[in-house]
Order: sequence, then structure tokens, then C-alpha cells
Amino acid sequence: MLIPAQLALWGLALIGVWALVWWMYDNLKSLAQICIALLAPYFAPTEHKTLTERFGKWAVITGSTDGIGKQYAFQLASRGLNVVLVSRSTDKLVAVAHEIESKYSVKTKWIAVDFSSGREIYDHLRKELESVPVGILGKRCYNASITKYVQCKSTRSELFVLRA
Ligand SMILES: NC(=O)c1ccc[n+]([C@@H]2O[C@H](COP(=O)([O-])OP(=O)(O)OC[C@H]3O[C@@H](n4cnc5c(N)ncnc54)[C@H](OP(=O)(O)O)[C@@H]3O)[C@@H](O)[C@H]2O)c1
Repeated sequence: MLIPAQLALWGLALIGVWALVWWMYDNLKSLAQICIALLAPYFAPTEHKTLTERFGKWAVITGSTDGIGKQYAFQLASRGLNVVLVSRSTDKLVAVAHEIESKYSVKTKWIAVDFSSGREIYDHLRKELESVPVGILGKRCYNASITKYVQCKSTRSELFVLRA
């Protein structure tokens, strides 16, 4: 049977231990996080899958004839993805599609639309995209509300969206 003085001592000891653990956690958690981040690559299973294994064969890129969108298209094609190029100017689309196909062994498809020209472009987009099993969508142009017209038919259940 514990007498009250012993109970008080145990209580104080528990508070002391709790305070010590809390102090150590608070002061050493950054150090622990750094150690975990450094060691994790040696223990975590490495992702060996390629982009096509993860997302399927097709990516759609809007704003893909210039700037960042064009770079997305080239980078994805260099990793074996077929790309659907979506932009305004037909001549630029043809040139970029040709450049990609001559550089990489992938297929391209292009869709010329002006996202500032109203609702009717979306019927055209839906029709052009309905047979394409898209896994990645790169949005580099406007707030083009294209996502709902891209059916994700890749191996993943969700579309992977590269945002602007
Ligand atoms: N560059 C940056 O550092 C930066 C940083 C953050 C965010 N952003 C944003 O990212 C987006 C792309 O930037 P960027 O520098 O790559 O632009 P960019 O070099 O001017 O390229 C724009 C692309 O979008 C297409 N496009 C423009 N207006 C269109 C329309 N109404 N309908 C269909 N396609 C259209 C162009 O096609 P055509 O030439 O055939 O018309 C071209 O392929 C912009 O929204 C920009 O605000 C850019």
C-alpha cells in the first residue's frame, strides 16, 4: 500500500519524465526529421516504374506550341508518352508535332482551339479526345476548363494534372 508521500513522489517523477520527453521532442524533432530524410532513401522501396507504366501512353498538353507547355510536351515525349498538343495556331501545332515525332518514337495528335472563343470549342475537344486514353493533363494555357473533357482511361483511376 502506497502512502500519500510516496504517491506524491511518483506523481512528481511522472511529471518530470513527461516534461523531459516533451522537451527532447520539441528540441530534437528537427534533427530527427533531418536524419529520417537522409536515411529514408536507403530503406524506402524505390519506384522503378516508368511514366508510361504509371500513367498510360497518352498525355494532353494545352498551350503546347510555346514556352512551358512546349517543354512539357517534349519532356513527356522524351519519356515515351504520346502527346496530344492543344493550342491556337495550326501551323505551330503542325511544326511542334513534326519536331516531336522526328525526335522521339512517339505518336502525336493536335487539336487547334482558341480557348477565348466560347463554348463551342468544347464539343470539338470532347469529340477529339473521347478515344484517347489520357493519363496526364498539362494545363499551360488560360484556365481552360478542359479537365472534364479528358476521360481518364489510363491504368490509373485518376488523371494526373500538371498545373499552370
Ligand atoms: N513563363 C513563366 O515564367 C510563367 C510563370 C508562371 C505562370 N505562367 C503562366 O503559364 C502559362 C504559359 O506561359 P508560357 O510562358 O509558357 O506562355 P507562352 O510561351 O506565351 O505560350 C502560350 C501557349 O499557349 C497557347 N495559347 C495562348 N492563348 C491561347 C488561347 N486563347 N487558346 C489556345 N491556346 C492559346 C499558345 O499557342 P499559340 O501560340 O498557337 O497561340 C502557346 O502555345 C500562362 O498562362 C502564364 O501566365 C508563366
